[in-house]
Amino acid sequence: MNGSIDRYAVIGDPVAHSMSPRVHALFAAQLAQELTYDRILAGVDAFAAAAGEFFRAGGRGLNVTVPCKFAAADWVDELEPQAAAAGVVNTIVPFTEQATVRFRGHNTDGPGLLGDLSENLAEPLAGRRLLLLGAGGAVNGVVRHLAGQAPRELVIANRTDARAQALAAAVHAEFPTVPIRGCSLADLSDSFDLVINGTSAGLTEQVPAISGKVVHGALCYDMVYGGETAFCRWALAEGARGVSDGLGMLVEQAALAFTLWTGKVPLTQPVLAELRAGN
Ligand code: ATR
Repeated sequence: MNGSIDRYAVIGDPVAHSMSPRVHALFAAQLAQELTYDRILAGVDAFAAAAGEFFRAGGRGLNVTVPCKFAAADWVDELEPQAAAAGVVNTIVPFTEQATVRFRGHNTDGPGLLGDLSENLAEPLAGRRLLLLGAGGAVNGVVRHLAGQAPRELVIANRTDARAQALAAAVHAEFPTVPIRGCSLADLSDSFDLVINGTSAGLTEQVPAISGKVVHGALCYDMVYGGETAFCRWALAEGARGVSDGLGMLVEQAALAFTLWTGKVPLTQPVLAELRAGN
């Protein structure tokens, strides 16, 4: 290990495709920070050992991706409030307390998604009908941020409807003035203003099994990135008014993690433009 350069990494499985190292390298260049940012391949069972080893070797911060976000919330010593509410962690920050290194878990996915929708896509949320597809770690990380934007209605639809209903009930208890309900994918028939795909179906090039009527006229947002995803292609063919992959969310959540680690605030739009241009 090079003791003089700050080390960061993203941990999960798969990680080979992750653009986080590139994003953080662009932030570091913008702010004249010297750092390295690696990928660590680890599933849920290997997470604790791999994270512990990374920090013992001097690591300064970890991003956590699929499928380790729940495991990371269990592993850290304390959770900041947004991560505690969501039960999922995407950013780990070490700190020293009484000469002992401890770890705080954050979740920057929710603010990252809101940042992309408002700053980059200029998509209003207040008074709108919002649909979230999925009820796993990705959706848990963002659903409260969407509920906090005073939508007209927030629906969580999942392949396993009991998970959607449980999550909707939990979020409704926290936001009692927002109409929130959970249902199965097959129960969806109305159209929405904004449809956010937070399922992992896209990892296998699949599209959640919903009626095309649901996305007709909607902005369809895929929380995974990679240009035109299978969900984006399908939604456009079904009459969506627009589509976006999650590259902007990746950049926005990464910027928030970068600030937690370094105290510096990178500009996101030039980084997003550079990535979109394929540079
Ligand atoms: P993540 O952290 O990416 O959210 P997860 O917690 O394993 O991963 O959750 C994956 C989500 O994608 C779940 O909502 C899952 O639905 P189930 O709860 O029914 O398993 C959903 N999902 C995965 N593959 C899917 C597919 N082919 N079609 C629809 N939903 C799918």
